[in-house]
Amino acid sequence: MDHFLYRDGALFAEDVPVADIAAAVGTPFYVYSSATLLRHFRLFDEALEGMDHLVCFAMKAASNQAILKTLAQAGAGMDVVSQGEYLRAKAAGVPGDKIVFSGVGKTHEEIRTALSGGIRQFNVESEPEMAAISEVATDLGVVAPITIRVNPDVDAKTHAKIATGKSENKFGIPISRAREVYAHAAALPGLEVIGIDVHIGSQLTELEPFEKAYLKVAELTEVLREDGHNIRRLDLGGGLGIPYTRSNDAPPLPVEYGALIKKTLGHLGCEIEIEPGRLIAGNAGLMISKVIYVKSGEDREFLIVDGAMNDLIRPAMYEAHHDIDPVIEATPGIEKSTYDIVGPVCETGDTFAKGRSMAPLKAGDLIAFRSAGAYGAVMASEYNSRPLIPEVLVHGDQFAVIRSRPTFEEMINRDTIPEWL
Ligand code: LLP
Repeated sequence: MDHFLYRDGALFAEDVPVADIAAAVGTPFYVYSSATLLRHFRLFDEALEGMDHLVCFAMKAASNQAILKTLAQAGAGMDVVSQGEYLRAKAAGVPGDKIVFSGVGKTHEEIRTALSGGIRQFNVESEPEMAAISEVATDLGVVAPITIRVNPDVDAKTHAKIATGKSENKFGIPISRAREVYAHAAALPGLEVIGIDVHIGSQLTELEPFEKAYLKVAELTEVLREDGHNIRRLDLGGGLGIPYTRSNDAPPLPVEYGALIKKTLGHLGCEIEIEPGRLIAGNAGLMISKVIYVKSGEDREFLIVDGAMNDLIRPAMYEAHHDIDPVIEATPGIEKSTYDIVGPVCETGDTFAKGRSMAPLKAGDLIAFRSAGAYGAVMASEYNSRPLIPEVLVHGDQFAVIRSRPTFEEMINRDTIPEWL
């Protein structure tokens, strides 16, 4: 459920007409609903009630500080994967002891920054990285809390580019080698082994792969405890999928996911951490764009809109489907047209949707790309020298620009021309 609904034929973000925001900030732009962000966070938080737990928002999905602050004020921790994300979380006021550092290639500099600024734990992805954390921690005279990410060799049954839990993927250490690697970690100075980490992929639409992975983690917890490790925290990653269309089967709900966690891992008495990104932010954001031209091709109509693949890359990159709705609803019963919806970028890949049936649209009409709150703005670029588009946050009947559109001058002035030219 989200807070982007029609009222008298006009699309609202909470209590604000989307068209009013468009008039104020220009198109294209992203708009997020605070109420939806908070609702989704709370669904996870409540699903884990009764277990010691922390929901860490995977901020790679949406990293604007206003979004982070909204969630942090409700009690969320953050899952970060780079120094930039770590510093952004800190800048938004998230305390170090609620920040988890994931990612396969943490550099010495990143490790140093996190250890100096405070960190809940590192999720370690390899033995060389373990050695690097040990080295930096020893140098700083501190102890780094770590979990080790295990690769359970489970098929997440999702898009190949976002599956991470098979043995051929670059993530984690093979679960078959876990005892050896944990023994190695325990012997290194500057490290405190506190738990196990696992993340098998993103946009999972069934619980079964989670169940397989979590049962393996449960078994491993017991084995490692017998080996003498004090395993007390389990980081279960993110990955629960969202409905991208109104028509398809809805993925499992957070409450069902929480029940699975309790069933598979509840008896171990560990603190549970999860790292959802998409489910919290995905349906809490829209990208709003304007029709520039309606162009008739040989055998089809193109809607050429002012948003493009550089602003929302998911359709081009993953063949992802986003529902697209008019901001002003069509007259009920009007005959639909079929469109290919495309951006202005000079690539055929700049196609948002093919053969989409919609009420007829004309130049100047506003459209909303749904489910764009996660992996939308954060994956945008300035390809074709199109400035990054603004982000807007709505809260009840208020809205605020939380990242403004750079001017052309600002964008161009980021280049520097060498003296010899
Ligand atoms: N934890 C780790 C270690 C991750 O790698 C990810 C996502 C998450 C948590 C959050 O997963 P989520 O709950 O959002 O599924 N750009 C792609 C998605 C990439 C996901 C990468 N890792 C897309 O637009 O579909």
